[in-house]
Amino acid sequence: MKKKISVLIAVTLMCMAALTGCGSKQTSSADKIVFATNAEFPPFEFISTNGVIGEYDGIDIAIVKEIGERAGVEVEMQNMEFDSLLVALQNGQIDATIAGMTVTEERAKSVDFSTPYYTATQVMIVPEGSDIKAAADMAGKTIAVVQGYTGETVVQDLGFEYEAFKKGTECVMELVNGKCDVVVIDSATAQKYVSDNKGLTIVEDPDAFASEEYAIAVQKGNTELLNLINGVVEEMLADGTISELSAKYIDAE
Ligand code: ARG
Repeated sequence: MKKKISVLIAVTLMCMAALTGCGSKQTSSADKIVFATNAEFPPFEFISTNGVIGEYDGIDIAIVKEIGERAGVEVEMQNMEFDSLLVALQNGQIDATIAGMTVTEERAKSVDFSTPYYTATQVMIVPEGSDIKAAADMAGKTIAVVQGYTGETVVQDLGFEYEAFKKGTECVMELVNGKCDVVVIDSATAQKYVSDNKGLTIVEDPDAFASEEYAIAVQKGNTELLNLINGVVEEMLADGTISELSAKYIDAE
């Protein structure tokens, strides 16, 4: 009898532990939010010796730091491949992702997006003197994009063939070394690469490249975290913090 009761208690305790274990991330008012990014996308996220959260720096990282401070929660930043972010989110490995990530219909099927905090567009980086003046001029040229970025989708939709690389810096190296004619990537990141590398320039084509909005993603249905994030993001949009951060990181050089 005694034994049965203690077994019952043990089982009950195990169940409770299991429940809290599973539920803590999504349901309890979060005391720590685990974010992930892909820190290869300046000025939104990059590695620095003097980062804002650990070794991570950039507009997105500064936004996360503000979320932590304004909401009074601890924030953690992880770094992973861009393609792994949404999978990790869906698996519950992380709570949120911030990665200069464009809201797309496709992505919104698997995660929930916050209020957008930044408007961008795809642009073309070309060597100075290139005859590429508009997106249509990329026909027959060697185009480089980053795998999994919206730039890849956009070039695909235009019907051009392209080469996909793992990182933006790899695309830019191809361009600098004359191995490709054009790189299609997000505007602010392109600006950064052009200022870091001599002989490159940006070509815009608003008719071909629609505007894109960056937002933070959380697991589908995690409204508690989404509301917390939206509260701070909307406050930072209204009080000018986000434009200040953008100006600080984009005009830094
Ligand atoms: N805005 C583009 C997209 O959503 C590129 C984002 C890349 N971000 C990064 N942290 N590597 O696909």
